[in-house]
Amino acid sequence: MNDSIKVFAPATVANVVCGYDVLGFAVNQPGDEVIMRLTGGKGISISKITGDDGKLPLDPDKNTVSASVQHYLNHIGKPDTGIDIELHKKMPIGSGLGSSSASTVAGLFAVNTLFDNLLTNRELVPFAMKGEELACGYGHADNVAPALMGGFVLIRSYEPLDIISLPFPEDMHAAVVYPEVDVPTKDARQMIRSKVLLKDAVTQWGNVAGLVSGLFLKDYDLIGRSMTDILVEPTRSILIPDFAVMKSIALESGAIGFGISGSGPSVFALTRDADIARTITAKLQQHLKNLNINSLSFVSEVNKKGPIILD
Ligand code: HSE
Repeated sequence: MNDSIKVFAPATVANVVCGYDVLGFAVNQPGDEVIMRLTGGKGISISKITGDDGKLPLDPDKNTVSASVQHYLNHIGKPDTGIDIELHKKMPIGSGLGSSSASTVAGLFAVNTLFDNLLTNRELVPFAMKGEELACGYGHADNVAPALMGGFVLIRSYEPLDIISLPFPEDMHAAVVYPEVDVPTKDARQMIRSKVLLKDAVTQWGNVAGLVSGLFLKDYDLIGRSMTDILVEPTRSILIPDFAVMKSIALESGAIGFGISGSGPSVFALTRDADIARTITAKLQQHLKNLNINSLSFVSEVNKKGPIILD
């Protein structure tokens, strides 16, 4: 058994427009890194966090990484294991890119590897959901499941947990742009209406089924016309600068579909190739610059691997 490991876990695009809390996919970059050491002592410590501007707690009871790792240790019957964690944030917090889930997943993958893979990545999902619960008040899985399993996933059911890996067109790319405005997931969840009209539900589940069918059929037109959200986007998009304008720019530039990544403020487009994705990120970043808003952008295929061990 090794006593130290360094792990990378990827960012994720949750919801994928119409699939609030049930759809998500992983991207190759950005992602977070965790260095974990077995100390031989007792209990978890967090010795260092970088890249968080001092925002994340070093207290192991309050940090999502250590709290999830503690749940794992309790589960395997080794609650007092001495572990030290270094967390290196490589993506902004509160960005809608699954920032907390990338950290949590890196930590869980690290501890599970140190314990010779007692659980599969899929079996780690409930432990990672505990981290999401700590981060935003609700243990949703549409970030942590794709971060752990890679690819495009559907959370068919939460009780019991039923996660389906979906196929997707190999050439499909994501263009992701993060406008540097703060939208905490907790707030973005609280602003959504908790009741929906049956006619709206009919529209929404038609689109979810259409998107899943489009992924299976590798039918970009079907994927695109299913990327419509009448339940969440109309409310949340208010928090995102010039959302409607950015959507028009992306669609006119060849996006298959466009929407909010997770709870925002990041936005994303799905495209047929990397060139179209790069064109879209350049145009959206220029638009945000004209509004005096700084931004970051990422172009990626769907990440198939999930977390990986770094040298
Ligand atoms: N499904 C979650 C939400 C994802 O939209 O609140 C958070 O990134």
